[in-house]
Amino acid sequence: MRYLVTGGAGFVGSNIVLRLEKDRHDVVVLDDMSSGTFKNLENFRGEFFCVDLANVDLVDLFKNRPPFDAIIHEASITDTTVTDQNLMIRKNVDGFRHILDYAAFHPCRVVYASSAAVYGNNPSPQSEDQAPHPLNVYGFSKMILDNMAKKAAREHSRPIIGLRYFNVFGPGEGHKGKFSSMIYQLYLQMREGKNPRVFKWGEQGRDHVYVKDVVEANILALSAENSGTVNVGTGVETSFNDIIETLNKALHLQMTTDYFDNPYDFYQNHTRASIEATRLLLGYVPRFSVSEGIMDYVQYLEH
Ligand SMILES: NC(=O)c1ccc[n+]([C@@H]2O[C@H](COP(=O)([O-])OP(=O)(O)OC[C@H]3O[C@@H](n4cnc5c(N)ncnc54)[C@H](O)[C@@H]3O)[C@@H](O)[C@H]2O)c1
Repeated sequence: MRYLVTGGAGFVGSNIVLRLEKDRHDVVVLDDMSSGTFKNLENFRGEFFCVDLANVDLVDLFKNRPPFDAIIHEASITDTTVTDQNLMIRKNVDGFRHILDYAAFHPCRVVYASSAAVYGNNPSPQSEDQAPHPLNVYGFSKMILDNMAKKAAREHSRPIIGLRYFNVFGPGEGHKGKFSSMIYQLYLQMREGKNPRVFKWGEQGRDHVYVKDVVEANILALSAENSGTVNVGTGVETSFNDIIETLNKALHLQMTTDYFDNPYDFYQNHTRASIEATRLLLGYVPRFSVSEGIMDYVQYLEH
């Protein structure tokens, strides 16, 4: 099969690219390198287009090349603190529009990254039948993608599948700095011999999902029969205290935790994905619990 992966130099995208190549598919990467890094693709064997998806006509860009069987769309502004609404919406929404335009011209499957950010402060477990309540323009842009996908799926002959990732962690996120997972940031602090630091009293919980399960969800979406937008998480909430305990175990350390006041007026204390709809649409069942994911990740990081 021939696939286009947008955002393929980023964290999730590069993991998908490398898995598709391992499975012997022909993969093309499109990435403007606004946040990705070539280091994630050191073993990549395919073609690379360094362009801004928001400013390109994909039909024109790929006019002399064989069409794609599917597009896996990961490209996005992923800095959730960007407040420039014009920039965020233009980049994320126009970029997706260009994907749908290509798919309308050369009928192909579309799998795209949405986000748990569309749920905002909704009660946990967050499920797809809840009305979205994005709290920032990043979450808003993802909500618009979901709206566009729903509408396009009615007219499109191939499935369009949106995946609302929860908190993803794993190999390939090092370039994300303060936007990398809390698991990675806590690992770095502890590796440097510093006590891990979290908001008082570390009991806030998140649905942390290992990137290998996120890749698996994308692979399953490549053969799902129907369109839909579904959550990708573990279905389990894990507290920061529990994560630190697992990291201590994985690193053979006994660090104590420094707690400090949460400066934010608003902070989501609990997220947990309902993954029943994902199981029904994709047959998705996470293979890694958070502690198994952390153990696997630490082994990779310590190599
Ligand atoms: N990592 C998470 O926890 C998480 C959670 C929810 C949703 N997501 C979504 O998953 C996708 C992948 O995120 P990630 O964590 O790998 O982030 P990332 O920043 O590592 O990857 C995004 C990639 O997209 C590229 N890009 C950005 N704008 C582009 C544009 N206009 N044209 C072309 N390329 C562009 C960047 O250079 C980068 O390589 C994103 O859509 C993100 O919103 C991620």
